[in-house]
Amino acid sequence: MVKELKPKTQDLRPIVILVTGGAGFIGSNFIRYELENDDDVIIINLDKLTYAGNLESLKDIEKKYDTSSLKLKPKTQDLRPNLRYFFVKGDICDRNLVDSLLSGKYWKGGKLKPKTQDLKPNIVINFAAESHVDRSILDAEPFIDTNIKGTQVLLEAARSSWQNLKPKTQDLRPKVFIHISTDEVYGSLGKKGKFTENSPLSPNSPYSASKAAADLICRSYYTAYSLPVIITRSSNNYGPYQFPEKLIPLMIKNALEGKTLPVYGKGMNIRDWLHVQDNCRAIDLVLRKGKPGEIYNIGGENEMENRKVVKLICGILEEKKTGGDSRLTTRDSRLDELIKFIADPRGKAHDFRYALDCSKIKKDLGWKPTISFEEGLRETIDWYLSNQDWVKKVVTGEYQKYYKKIYK
Ligand code: NAD
Ligand code: TYD
Repeated sequence: MVKELKPKTQDLRPIVILVTGGAGFIGSNFIRYELENDDDVIIINLDKLTYAGNLESLKDIEKKYDTSSLKLKPKTQDLRPNLRYFFVKGDICDRNLVDSLLSGKYWKGGKLKPKTQDLKPNIVINFAAESHVDRSILDAEPFIDTNIKGTQVLLEAARSSWQNLKPKTQDLRPKVFIHISTDEVYGSLGKKGKFTENSPLSPNSPYSASKAAADLICRSYYTAYSLPVIITRSSNNYGPYQFPEKLIPLMIKNALEGKTLPVYGKGMNIRDWLHVQDNCRAIDLVLRKGKPGEIYNIGGENEMENRKVVKLICGILEEKKTGGDSRLTTRDSRLDELIKFIADPRGKAHDFRYALDCSKIKKDLGWKPTISFEEGLRETIDWYLSNQDWVKKVVTGEYQKYYKKIYK
């Protein structure tokens, strides 16, 4: 008979998380959130650094938690106080690289030799994706590669790493693979109703189709191999460090530069806005208390028409301008005069409305959104005003080319 092992708290630590796509918007916010909130968390961030990934978003984190360049005594066995974060540039489609990260053997070219278990991830959180609907309509291929193939590579690598453990391995830490998905996999809603986790998948853009395909592959790894996979599907996130091609940061950037605010169609499409901090808190709860095999909807419970969102941004900026905020240099008297309704570049693939029923995560994990949209938007605008340098650094020549193509 196999003796049941009762893990002691220390057996369950450290929590080593392989975060993919951690140089992007939600991933970088999540890394900051985890490292600040649990001293026993170590994070390996694997990111390809596409146009959307930028290490500028993690500069403070590297400084505070990646002390690998400092001299450690070779015999140091507990690395936690010394080194809790490190970055690896690479592609989630690269199986050899992912294998070496999951085995715990990859460590800055082997300069340090910690105990393997200290660096063997017991959690994978897959944020890495091509994430912009408009770009997917221009070229679907990278979406298929990263979002579908990349997810399968990660699942397969986790399966072989976690399921081939020798009986003597005393790694009692729970293993969880969290796949970060989106409400867009459900497709578009009319004026009424909400999606539950059981709603059929009906994606309309190459982006959402690739995310739906990945969700189904995740499901199959749970069913076929009992891999402990959990899927989260969140609504539209907003907050600090979002690349300025998405609605809210784009409108803030353009307004500050006195440029046109391009609203697709009549601006009547509706999104449900979720502050990224509320999402990070939800993902954290899922990783600690979520049930393998389950899907959790995470919504902001704040639906708004796009034109109203843009007007709100203009209103908040106006208020700051009149209040003499020196960070605003635009001379335009009425910012909402910059709004321009343009032919919808998404055509029929532009989903009319998203809305999520979040009763499951509320009931099972005790989560609810806490940041109201107006409060979150004010704070986000403030962040962009104080971090105009970050915007300048992440926007490259590639961005200008893309911008010309989509807003021609
Ligand atoms: P993002 O575009 O800001 O960041 C994506 C990150 O993934 C970037 O750092 C990029 O360099 C990296 N990446 C891309 N391809 C890669 C590859 N092949 N290998 C390794 N890294 C790669 O995206 P985001 O807004 O932070 O979204 C994160 C996740 O959340 C995505 O899976 C997205 O589908 C999902 N999501 C986003 C939202 C939202 O509103 N932003 C809403 C719901 C779900
Ligand atoms: P976006 O931020 O790209 O997120 P998603 O497409 O994933 O919902 O867009 C949010 C909404 O804003 C969407 O209905 C499209 C619209 N939109 C504009 O009207 N103008 C823009 O310049 C952008 C980028 C988006």
